[in-house]
Amino acid sequence: MCGIVGYVGKRFAIPILIRGLKKLEYRGYDSAGVTFLENGHLRVIKKQGRIDVLENTLKELNYETASEESSAPPVKIGMGHTRWATHGVPSDENAHPHLSEQRHVCVIHNGIIENHVELRSFLIDKGVHFLSETDSEVAAHLIEYHYLTDCHADIMSAVQAALLEIEGSYALVVLCTEHPDLLIAAKKDNPLIIGLGSGENYIASDIPALIEYTRDVLIVEDNEIAVIKADSVHLYTVHGQIVNRNTISVDWDSEAAEKGGFEHFMMKEIFEEPSAIKATLSSRIRSNRVVLDDIPLDRDRILQASRIHFVACGTAYHAGCVGKNVIEKLCRIPVEADVASEFRYKDPIIDENSIVVIISQSGETLDTLAAMREAKKRGALTISIVNVIGSSIARESDYVMYTAAGPEISVASTKAYLTQLSCIYLLALYIASLIGSISSEEYDHYIKEMLRLPELIGKTLEKQSEIQRFASEHFNAKSIFFIGRGLDYYLSMESSLKLKEISYIHSEAYPGGELKHGTIALIEKGTLVVCSLTQDQLMEKMISNISEVKARGAIVLGITTENQEKAIRACDEVFTIPPIHPVLAPMLAITPSQLFAYYMAVNKGCDVDKPRNLAKSVTVE
Ligand code: AGP
Repeated sequence: MCGIVGYVGKRFAIPILIRGLKKLEYRGYDSAGVTFLENGHLRVIKKQGRIDVLENTLKELNYETASEESSAPPVKIGMGHTRWATHGVPSDENAHPHLSEQRHVCVIHNGIIENHVELRSFLIDKGVHFLSETDSEVAAHLIEYHYLTDCHADIMSAVQAALLEIEGSYALVVLCTEHPDLLIAAKKDNPLIIGLGSGENYIASDIPALIEYTRDVLIVEDNEIAVIKADSVHLYTVHGQIVNRNTISVDWDSEAAEKGGFEHFMMKEIFEEPSAIKATLSSRIRSNRVVLDDIPLDRDRILQASRIHFVACGTAYHAGCVGKNVIEKLCRIPVEADVASEFRYKDPIIDENSIVVIISQSGETLDTLAAMREAKKRGALTISIVNVIGSSIARESDYVMYTAAGPEISVASTKAYLTQLSCIYLLALYIASLIGSISSEEYDHYIKEMLRLPELIGKTLEKQSEIQRFASEHFNAKSIFFIGRGLDYYLSMESSLKLKEISYIHSEAYPGGELKHGTIALIEKGTLVVCSLTQDQLMEKMISNISEVKARGAIVLGITTENQEKAIRACDEVFTIPPIHPVLAPMLAITPSQLFAYYMAVNKGCDVDKPRNLAKSVTVE
């Protein structure tokens, strides 16, 4: 989604803004712009297209864009924005920042102003001339309207007044001509983080944009306003009450957000899976027991829940589907898994007994955030499984289990998915031990197997060239089927999504037993079918399904454990993973599918880390 960067301090602002925006490119965008105060005037330079287009325009205007070191920096305050279009097509005019009618105020915005139509007509009646089709431009004119009328040139009051009239979501930063020493930022439903420097301060949508300058951050929470100067930062509620908040020290170094020698963030992040899982498990398995300090659930509260709900979007939803299967299997508690955009509108059967587990890598997916709020409104206990510290979903849920995946920059989620599964398995074992639904021997075995996962995934990754070869033979496929039964079916859903979103090859996941009820009509000579074969008790049935599709000409790639001789013989090609308990198999079997999707996309010359039409965090509905 949109990216925001702001700077006020002692250095030349423009290069800092450009570097920050480039670190936020992964959020997906279609245009970019900067604004800064120069000789008492607001300058706005914004262009449709990639940041390079903006940077070239700045250079043509003789602005230095690379080095922020300057003996007498001409511009020491400014802000930048990358826009992912929601209202109004991608264009120079619709790009941010937006200037107000009389150029006192400039605004950058992430989110949706839901009552922008009414506000626009009110402002037009006051003589305002709009230059764009965007909802965001309304904010600039509305703030200036209050600034010039009832707020008597008090920019803070003008921002407050405008925010009280705006309905919807925003991460907003304001620069005012008459206040060249400060930025005002406001937040509701979209992320904003303040980076604290020495004689300089930063504001951004996400940590990678500011981490090369500072690791000390302040999280801006919903309905709060920040006044950021070079030597001070003050937080207030939207009504003006002072807010005191502790600084968080972020331990991601700037390298962590770089590619670390890999061609793409996605491959780097796949190879980080062993360490990410280890980091997620290590703080929560002590003396071979699951310890969830962050989730004070007791036996009574668990038994009070008639069912547990997983709610999420995309890959996180697929993790929730695995969670449904695993918790039902280990805990014998009914579990539902819902897509967030469906859950929030289906009048869900949720009450004060319900436990709703919200999964989100970014912690900012609007549908997931809204679904959680719906569950809370109905009295549910909400537990979130989130990767980004201090994100909206993390802060609003009753309890949060942070995954320790580190920054996941590639749009396609890989290591985050595995750390989400790790948290789900921990939660399942924690609940099972609380209610005594599995024996202590079973419990111990699961713990032992989980602790082996980082090593086993490392072994799987060592065989990446096998997947690379197979992808080189099949990247021209027009449609691919992923089939499996039980946990292997949920795994197939995630494998199919990975392939689609980065290689643009159509694919679909199907329960192996369901193919014969229609879809097998699509199987013809040369159709590629990928079978996930890790569930021992369903192996014979899956081998029958392999025979069915091969009889119609399919080419079958099997992903199975090394000891499944019969399954290996049934497939045309096979990728084997080390033997592991079937319940934990999704943790191992997904990596080959991620590699498969990656190499298919690379062979097709796709933009692996920034696929078309997609954003890393979907903060609009
Ligand atoms: C996964 O590869 C996709 N990028 C997408 O489906 C993603 O999982 C979904 O948008 C949910 O994002 P979240 O985990 O940040 O909420």
